[in-house]
Amino acid sequence: MHYQLIAAIDEDWGIGKDGTIPWRCPDDLKHFKRVTLGHWLVIGRKTWDSFGRKPLPGRNTIVVSSDPESVGIPPNGLKIGDTGAYRVLGARSPSHAKQLLAANYANQVFIGGGATIYSAFSAEISTIWLSRVKARAQCDTKLDVCLDNFVLLLQQGHHGDTPFTIELYRRTR
Ligand SMILES: NC(=O)c1ccc[n+]([C@@H]2O[C@H](COP(=O)([O-])OP(=O)(O)OC[C@H]3O[C@@H](n4cnc5c(N)ncnc54)[C@H](OP(=O)(O)O)[C@@H]3O)[C@@H](O)[C@H]2O)c1
Repeated sequence: MHYQLIAAIDEDWGIGKDGTIPWRCPDDLKHFKRVTLGHWLVIGRKTWDSFGRKPLPGRNTIVVSSDPESVGIPPNGLKIGDTGAYRVLGARSPSHAKQLLAANYANQVFIGGGATIYSAFSAEISTIWLSRVKARAQCDTKLDVCLDNFVLLLQQGHHGDTPFTIELYRRTR
């Protein structure tokens, strides 16, 4: 199983404020979709809340919560969308999420936040997709990852209303 972290951060490593992402960057959302489509996404309950408790189409989602029965997972863990059927599962803990991923033969797994889930999976992460947004958004939630064991493979600048740079890192040890 290949675990990839994907996050957008501001210049202070902030990822969120008041339960949402405090900048508008449609091109980064397109990048997120392009990279994660067809794969598994693991998120925390607060990030799930920020999605309006609706799964992102075309991706299988695992929501981590101490009370997964209460977070509005669809019956049978299956959602039928315009682009086909996909799974939405609740996990009691990060280790339960790993069991569910193994039981479902997941191959590519994207750790989609928030901060608690990025930290819980940090030891498993082999690839990091970072979008560095040119903003200082006074976030209340920050990404806490150490890049010392990672090498930068790709860096691509994007212009627009909210300029950002996509960086791709691979673990070296
Ligand atoms: N910029 C980005 O790329 C990005 C990406 C994702 C999210 N965000 C932002 O980040 C913020 C949310 O992040 P967050 O760190 O506050 O919350 P989060 O990680 O999304 O969710 C936290 C919740 O996950 C569950 N959880 C976490 N660890 C657990 C464990 N070991 N066992 C059981 N349940 C566990 C708990 O749910 P229960 O309370 O239900 O038990 C906990 O309250 C929002 O502002 C969001 O918009 C930004």
